[in-house]
Amino acid sequence: MKVTVVGAGAVGASCAEYIAIKDFASEVVLLDIKEGYAEGKAMDLMQTAPLNGFDTKITGSTNDYSKTAGSQICVITSGIPRKPGMTREELIGINAGIVKTVATSLVKHSPDTILIVVSNPMDTMTYLAHKVTGLPKNRIIGMGGALDSARFKYRLAEALGAPLSDVDGMVIGGHSDTGMIPLTRLATRNSVPVSKFISGERLQQVMEDTKVGGATLTKLLGTSAWYAPGAAVSALVQAIACDQKKMFPCSTMLNGEYGMSDICIGVPVILGKNGIEKIVEIELTDSEKAHMKESAEGVSKTNNLLEF
Ligand code: LAC
Repeated sequence: MKVTVVGAGAVGASCAEYIAIKDFASEVVLLDIKEGYAEGKAMDLMQTAPLNGFDTKITGSTNDYSKTAGSQICVITSGIPRKPGMTREELIGINAGIVKTVATSLVKHSPDTILIVVSNPMDTMTYLAHKVTGLPKNRIIGMGGALDSARFKYRLAEALGAPLSDVDGMVIGGHSDTGMIPLTRLATRNSVPVSKFISGERLQQVMEDTKVGGATLTKLLGTSAWYAPGAAVSALVQAIACDQKKMFPCSTMLNGEYGMSDICIGVPVILGKNGIEKIVEIELTDSEKAHMKESAEGVSKTNNLLEF
């Protein structure tokens, strides 16, 4: 199993590291446009192999896509991250051009690949990847919901005073500060609804903290986060590589599901060796449906800024 990660910045390198540590891929190619940078990160990571005990071979390449040929999964993290105070949507001008070039170059060398899009604004970049590559919809996956759900679980555990392994919850909708929909109604502590343990007001606070999870870290770090984004991507890559049939909320092209079409937005999907093997349609309340509609309107507005 060969995996390519484009963008050897913090998110791409973390992603490569977690994939290697989990030791399910034979090869990870890191590619970056900056001369020598991916090679350096790859060499540094390879020198952790004797310490961390993995056999995955990590190589680096400066923009030579022939090195990525035959990748079963390609991850796109390239582009600029946001700075404190910026929204993900503000990155579209620069990132759209980059994602367009990267996606087409990857597919040229790996026509059977499954693409995972991480670059922001992620839902719109996933939509763009569809439009420029024409890959079947099961083979383009936007990573946002897996990360947002991890942040939701973190905030839930904090509010409940519970270990993280006790809580479960999911975030659907767009990967933006206003578009995320943490499904508090369905969140549980070991199968018991979380509303049994905390007030509606506290749960509302959990929801708000989850939605600005990325922005909170950007403010603290001066750039956007990388450990949880890298871990979330590696979980999706592993689900596909190991045909795990795991369910994650991912940005996927909808074709009538959830009453929407021609839009990529976060909904629960089953991931296996074919990429998105099934879109899971869960029953939403009227209020959740209204939030989903609003979230989709936001994503469409950003999509409309794209030029093909
Ligand atoms: C974040 C970026 C990856 O939410 O969108 O941290």
